[in-house]
Amino acid sequence: MELKPARILGIETSCDETAASVVENGREILSSIVATQIDLHVKYGGVFPEVASRQHVRTIYPVIEEALQRANMSLADIQAVAVTRGPGLAGSLVVGMNAAKGISLGRQLPLIGINHLEGHIYSAWLYPADTPKPPPPPEFPQMVLLVSGGHTALNLVHDHLQYKHLGGTLDDAAGEAFDKVARTLNLPYPGGPSIQRAAESGNPQAFTFPRAWMEGSWNFSFSGLKTAVLREVRSLEKINPTLPVANLAASFQEAVVDVLFSKTMSAARAFGVKSVLVAGGVSANQALREAFTSQGEFPVHIPPLSLCTDNAAMIASAGYFHYCAGHLDPLDLDVLPTWPLS
Ligand code: KG4
Ligand code: ZN
Repeated sequence: MELKPARILGIETSCDETAASVVENGREILSSIVATQIDLHVKYGGVFPEVASRQHVRTIYPVIEEALQRANMSLADIQAVAVTRGPGLAGSLVVGMNAAKGISLGRQLPLIGINHLEGHIYSAWLYPADTPKPPPPPEFPQMVLLVSGGHTALNLVHDHLQYKHLGGTLDDAAGEAFDKVARTLNLPYPGGPSIQRAAESGNPQAFTFPRAWMEGSWNFSFSGLKTAVLREVRSLEKINPTLPVANLAASFQEAVVDVLFSKTMSAARAFGVKSVLVAGGVSANQALREAFTSQGEFPVHIPPLSLCTDNAAMIASAGYFHYCAGHLDPLDLDVLPTWPLS
């Protein structure tokens, strides 16, 4: 693939963040605007699809305008529009898709539909425009651990846009486990950050929770762990209604991090990769980040916190590499609410 200069407008509305961004040459963030809806969904304990969709409609155009303004650009300075096509909530995805199509049609700009998971992977390639010395690009082949609210997977990436799915979760995604266990511990949505906060004052060795190693495969399973926490909570409640939340959160987090880190490292060794990438909402987890950054065996790339959870810069970045590869989409492109990466 021949890389050429281009500024891509990225649009992301797959779940509960309305986001737009301008990225130059796939890596340099000129602007990244994220309007989160978390406050609207807290009272439901999770994302309420209709509420999400309606809020995207309200915010999408102001968010796109702000992204262009912050980048000091107009649509005349943009070479293509990249938009999340899936996976995600259908009613949320169509809002971003329709906005992207409108811009594409109105300005005669190429439209590029992006897989949200691929976007997460490219979040590890990005850096802010004011970075004095751009970080070197992650080297291929890469072992990519993708850990988000809906997905947990290991991918071997030989080159741009080439993913070999090695394994994934057979039940709950890592983020989903964080969210469900948070509910069991009466911690607020979103569960991941709540568990992390609670775990800070806890002892990760207080409880021994099971690790599902899924030997002989690169798969994961977190539902047994989730049930083990629930069972522990039920039996503790019988003795004392005040739960040792910090210790439970810390021990649960340790079990998740242990499995994610160990299996990714084993896969990296088995396939002899040159770098390890960790991406997706759960890559914001401090304990997980520390596990990877404190090993010296492989160069590791984890996005800065602001790019771990959903954003549009990662969509613009992935869009850039598709643009260079000549992968452009027609204006009747449809959203794909369940769209695997490879
Ligand atoms: O990638 P993302 O923003 O949305 C999806 O594409 O799913 O990921 C959201 C997930 C949620 O399950 C959330 O609880 C989790 O990422 N998460 C975390 C942390 N921050 C977000 N999990 C653990 N620790 C965190 N600090
Ligand atoms: Zn995501």
